[in-house]
Amino acid sequence: MDEIRIGVAGLGHRGLHWIRLLQSVPGYRITAIYDWIEPLQERALAEIAHRDDVRVFANYYDFLAYDGMDAVGLVVRQMEQGTMAAEALEAGKHVNSEVPAAYTMEECWRIVTNVERTGLVYSLAEQTRFWGFVDGWKKLVDDGMLGRITYAEGQYLGYYGTHQWFQDFKTGRQYPVEALPDHPEAEPANPQYLPYIISASYDLSILLKILDDRVIEVTGMSTKPPSYTTPEMLNADIQVALMKTEKDTLIRMLNGFNQPRPHGDHHWWQMIGTKGSVEWRRSGKEKPKLWLADTQMNDWMEVDWQYRRTDAPPEARGSGHGDADYYVHMYFRDAILKGEALAYDVYRVMDSMAPAVLAVDSIEEGSRVVSVPDFRPGGDRPSGQMPADLGGIGGRIHVTKMPGRR
Ligand SMILES: NC(=O)c1ccc[n+]([C@@H]2O[C@H](COP(=O)([O-])OP(=O)(O)OC[C@H]3O[C@@H](n4cnc5c(N)ncnc54)[C@H](O)[C@@H]3O)[C@@H](O)[C@H]2O)c1
Repeated sequence: MDEIRIGVAGLGHRGLHWIRLLQSVPGYRITAIYDWIEPLQERALAEIAHRDDVRVFANYYDFLAYDGMDAVGLVVRQMEQGTMAAEALEAGKHVNSEVPAAYTMEECWRIVTNVERTGLVYSLAEQTRFWGFVDGWKKLVDDGMLGRITYAEGQYLGYYGTHQWFQDFKTGRQYPVEALPDHPEAEPANPQYLPYIISASYDLSILLKILDDRVIEVTGMSTKPPSYTTPEMLNADIQVALMKTEKDTLIRMLNGFNQPRPHGDHHWWQMIGTKGSVEWRRSGKEKPKLWLADTQMNDWMEVDWQYRRTDAPPEARGSGHGDADYYVHMYFRDAILKGEALAYDVYRVMDSMAPAVLAVDSIEEGSRVVSVPDFRPGGDRPSGQMPADLGGIGGRIHVTKMPGRR
């Protein structure tokens, strides 16, 4: 095989971005598209140069049954995202899924065991781990410059209510909260039903890559829903998770997308070690900072770490998110066409995903401290078999009220 025939599921903003990118990265041919909102299908077709060769689906199981497709690009925003990934693997398709990977422990296990049983490629398109500064910080940690990392922190805060938190499900048009008086047809869209702390999995992917570690315990806390800032929003404003890793690092994750914030960086991270610390910039006027204990540094030093990699190939430039969007399609392609192992394999994906899923459970259970399983086979779980105890409580706030159908 020298070309992956890929079908794109989910034709929102991000799906359109994937459609454009997949036509520029060598090794892909889009052969199918799928979204249950039919007016969005034409908008997506208009972006595809060879549109007449593309099959269009409005039913997921018909889409998965299409034999002109080797792989699914899963770009839905949806509580059942993990189930859809697991079903695609069960249908014999490789899966490149947008973040987050899953919302329940059962989905995490189903994806892992399906990969083990089928040998198909499952990749999570979590691109932020390919940002330049991540490898810069990892080198400092690997070389022991910061000593033992005792504390790490990641946050993702933004205000997204201004564009896509309300939607007319007939046309697919999305509306900001300010447009509601003129658009009574707009209903709360899927993002409003999703617990924000699930997004901790993105920044955790960065921190665990740097630390080469895995979370073993997590507890979560949340302000009360609906939003204090924007009462039309159903989600809580702020959710926090505290975690402990196998190597004994404490981690704090913070997420919220209802409150106004300055434009620019939505993410922030810091790492505190026994011999030094690093932290991201607080504003566009600053640079990230480094402090090393044994070097007579009286104050932090500013370092020009960026999202952009200094070694990005020309084809990565302009792909999105500081050039990082390219890498998730490159690694997925090379895993399928060249058989190259994914560094961010399904176990590492779940190392980042499960603590966020269990933070939601912890919040629902009054901040109970929850153990995080290791997804690798061994002990009493042979490869390909679901464990006896899935972990987590499985249920989710609002899940039954979520709009849409499959
Ligand atoms: N990696 C990143 O930087 C990044 C950035 C933005 C969004 N995302 C992720 O991309 C995904 C899509 O984001 P978006 O902003 O395009 O969302 P969106 O809501 O604008 O679009 C999602 C589309 O999926 C469709 N959909 C949802 N569930 C479906 C189902 N079961 N069957 C058929 N269609 C379904 C919806 O109708 C909608 O058209 C999300 O998972 C989001 O987390 C990732």
